[in-house]
Amino acid sequence: MPEQNQQKILILDFGAQYSQLIARRVRECHVYSEVKPFSVSLEEIQSFAPAGIIFSGGPGSVYEAGSPHPAEGIYDLGIPILGICYGCQLLAQRFGGEVVPAISGTAREYGKAVTWFDNRCRLFTDLPGESVTWMSHGDLISILPKGFASAAYSAVCPTACIYDELRRLYGVQFHPEVTHTLHGREILQNFLFRVCHCSQGWTMADFRQKTVQSLREKIGDGKVLLALSGGVDSSVAAALLSEAIGSSLICIFVDHGLLRKDEGDEIEAFFSRQKLTFHRVDASRHFLTCLARINDPERKRKIIGEEFIRTFEQEARKIGKVDFLAQGTIYPDVIESGAGSSAVIKSHHNVGGLPDHVAFREILEPLRLLFKDEVRELGLALGLPENLVNRQPFPGPGLAIRVIGEVTQRKLKMLREADAIFREEMEKSGDSRTSGQYFAALTNMRSVGVMGDGRTYEYAVVLRSVKTDDFMTAEWSRLPYDLLERASSRIVNEVEGVNRVLYDITSKPPATVEYE
Ligand code: XMP
Repeated sequence: MPEQNQQKILILDFGAQYSQLIARRVRECHVYSEVKPFSVSLEEIQSFAPAGIIFSGGPGSVYEAGSPHPAEGIYDLGIPILGICYGCQLLAQRFGGEVVPAISGTAREYGKAVTWFDNRCRLFTDLPGESVTWMSHGDLISILPKGFASAAYSAVCPTACIYDELRRLYGVQFHPEVTHTLHGREILQNFLFRVCHCSQGWTMADFRQKTVQSLREKIGDGKVLLALSGGVDSSVAAALLSEAIGSSLICIFVDHGLLRKDEGDEIEAFFSRQKLTFHRVDASRHFLTCLARINDPERKRKIIGEEFIRTFEQEARKIGKVDFLAQGTIYPDVIESGAGSSAVIKSHHNVGGLPDHVAFREILEPLRLLFKDEVRELGLALGLPENLVNRQPFPGPGLAIRVIGEVTQRKLKMLREADAIFREEMEKSGDSRTSGQYFAALTNMRSVGVMGDGRTYEYAVVLRSVKTDDFMTAEWSRLPYDLLERASSRIVNEVEGVNRVLYDITSKPPATVEYE
């Protein structure tokens, strides 16, 4: 956990899609940051004691009744503030400027805009006078607030930055946190280091050392139970706890038989070598029996979730009393479950929710302050293999929601083989590096084909690859034809029962990434 005196940045979330991204960008500069809802009290802000505050953007307009505003006293704390988009307009309105709707279509800006910077403003120190920024706003500042000057403009936005160097208040109309803003990183760095005078104290090595120490103090000689799913988060949590308490950690890996090719064995091979107690429970037959004749996607998910908890509880009961239950919760889960106030909140039920019948004193969530990329960095530092740490997202219900319709042993086998081939070809060609997620699914469509001299009537596999930042929206990947051809030809030749390969060219929305 960050030390009390470590310099921190507070990000107030006014409902932006980008609040988490701002926090990540700040941490990439080795400065610790947290996202809190805009309505957080003044007392909480004071006790957090940030070196600087960033107001996020948001979907509202500052002049609308009921639009979100921060605690009033925030401006009297003497803490530097950077307002982004809506946050910039809040500063303008609060200090006597005027924010109005951009009435003519041309004064609204969505997308890249050539922007001119005044380098006398500290935010733009050492930057070129002209660059490209990412704009996304329907309102604009028509009258400057008192004591502020303007330090940037674009062809349609006369005030793309307002600032008052004396009170250390800065607002930018564009989004420095998105990569389309060419010098966004430098602008954030100027705020962190030239305005807030932050030091670069946030490193994974430091986090690891302090967290291990605080886990040891807290757990003492108690016992900790962890449900290890084999996903990145629970694996890194296991490795961290193992470093802290060794064999007092008991990991239960419920193998529901719905993992990808060789995955269960890889997990076992790694964790059974570690200094911890590892139980692999092969429940694959049981899960298949429960899923027999079930076609409805939601019922499949529900059955898997319930059976997972039940199996875990059964195993846990054999162990007896444990003191702590550990979970691989990470920071986006914390924010999405209500710590921020973003308009769209993703909710996915993962298998591995909290069991009801396991007696324990407390829950441990050692990764709850880390973003995914930080979790990966920590995993590598803890010696986890790269293929485990860089594993792409994989849904809790596993391959059951990639076999469309009823799940059977035979269908799972076909899918596992086809998926392994596709993933191997993606990795070989290097396209895996630009894809956010890629996998195969097995449709429940059979169609006629011809192989050798004979007619076939077999299943069709569908390949999916998407580009995405946040998985809330995703664009289908324009994969090279020769890669698709290689994958297709290998799948129909090597996977028995498949005679056709399709490629999904639907984005999200209107489709979802998964099929069920
Ligand atoms: P969708 O299909 O909703 O998927 O577009 C978005 C992302 O979430 C993953 N996903 C899940 N993850 N439990 C999970 O842990 C689930 O039930 C689940 N369903 C979808 C999906 O793989 C994609 O990364």
